[in-house]
Parts: sequence; C-alpha cells; structure tokens
Amino acid sequence: SSYLCCPFKFKMMSVHISAKKGEIAKTVLQPGDPLRAKYIADNFLEDVRLVSKTRNIFYFTGLYKGKEISVGASGMGVPSIGIYSYELFTEYDVDTIIRIGTCGGYTTDLNVFDLINVDGAASESTYAKFAWEMDEEIMYHQGKAFDVINETAKELALETKAANIHTSDVFYRKTPGIPAIAEKYNCPAVEMEAFALFANAKHLGKNAATILTVSDIIPTGEEISADQRETALRTMMTLALESGIKL
Ligand code: HPA
Repeated sequence: SSYLCCPFKFKMMSVHISAKKGEIAKTVLQPGDPLRAKYIADNFLEDVRLVSKTRNIFYFTGLYKGKEISVGASGMGVPSIGIYSYELFTEYDVDTIIRIGTCGGYTTDLNVFDLINVDGAASESTYAKFAWEMDEEIMYHQGKAFDVINETAKELALETKAANIHTSDVFYRKTPGIPAIAEKYNCPAVEMEAFALFANAKHLGKNAATILTVSDIIPTGEEISADQRETALRTMMTLALESGIKL
C-alpha cells in the first residue's frame, strides 16, 4: 500500500538544505554569503554540482586538488549559522566545518587584510545555553582544524593571528567603544557567527574552525575597498581549501 512507501520514513533531505544524503562532503567551507560560496565553486572547484538552493543558500560539492569538498553559506548571525551547521553535522554526517568570514577590528592594533584564526568566540548570545545547556560565555574552536590552519598558513607563507573574537548579535549599536564581553575575553575583533558554530560542534563532537579577514577597523572607519575585497577573500579561501583537503 502507499502507506509502506511513506516518504517521511526515508527522509532524503533536511529541513533547510535540499541536498540528498551523500551529496555533501565530509568537510564544508562556510562563508556567510551565498554568492561567496558560488565564487569559490566557480573559481576553485572542479566537477562542481549545485546540491541545494533552498532560500538561495547555495550548497556546492566539487573537487579541490582531487579531494571532495563542499561549500555553502551560513547566512548572517547566530540563529542562521546555528541552523545550517547543525543540519550539516547531523543530517549529512559532515565532520568539519570551516567558517570563512570577515570581521571588524575593535582596535588599530589590527589592520585591514589581517587574517585571524579564531581560538575562542565570546558572546552575549544565549544560543549555547538554550540549545545545549552550556553556560560558558566563550566557545572554542573544536578538533584539529585550527592547528591544521596554522600549519597550512605557514606553508603558504601567510601570517595569521590566533585570537579570541567577539560574536555579536548586534551590528549597529548606540554606544561606541569596545563592548564589555570583548574586553573581558581579549577580543580584538567582532563578527556574528563563530560562537554558535563552535557550540554546535562541541555538543555534537565535531570539528569546527573559523578564519576571518579583517574587513574594517571600527574606530577609524577604514575598510577594504570593493575592488580589494576579491583578492583579500581569495587568500582566505585558498587557506581554507588547502587546510580543508588535509582534514
Ligand atoms: N561587526 C560585526 N560583524 C562584522 C563587522 C562588524 O563591524 N565587520 C565585518 N563583520
């Protein structure tokens, strides 16, 4: 009877990603922006397939130097990366997610184009508490991806700074200056996703790292210009891909 082939019994896709099981690689590079995912697929991968386009959050799977890798967006902010990273880890058996993003520098000790390999992400977000009953304000990178990124950066003669960063839920805020949590955990830069990615990976026993390019210096307003952006991000993409194929 039709009851026997109930489609819900053999779920082929997850709630927010329409790829079939097996269509996503064990290692996923995750930029915030879907068009950046497409850029990586178009410029760095071979034999590429578009495996999900739900909500225009494109996921692509292809080969980098012969190794299968997937790339797809997280969207912006903790709730969005919380959903996508969770489904990748639990529905697609992904082992490692490397987030590649941009961040704002809180101090002039940083310069635009600096590369940060994130050690811990401190946040006022309640995500880890309400998702996984984890009460810490800081979540750390998980597994060996962080070390592999540091080693790979050396091989490529790229300078990366290992640092804590602030994962903020707020882009626009009333009061200028460095928020208390960023002071408390020595965070020279701010982005909006790493905390949730690390919390999910910690809860699930998976691997996660975050590489950030400093795109703007908040106190001076200096920023990477539109035409410099592509080259700056290509460097980070190469570092993530070269690290990704070792994982
Ligand atoms: N704030 C938060 N996230 C960011 C910023 C910022 O200033 N710049 C790039 N990502």
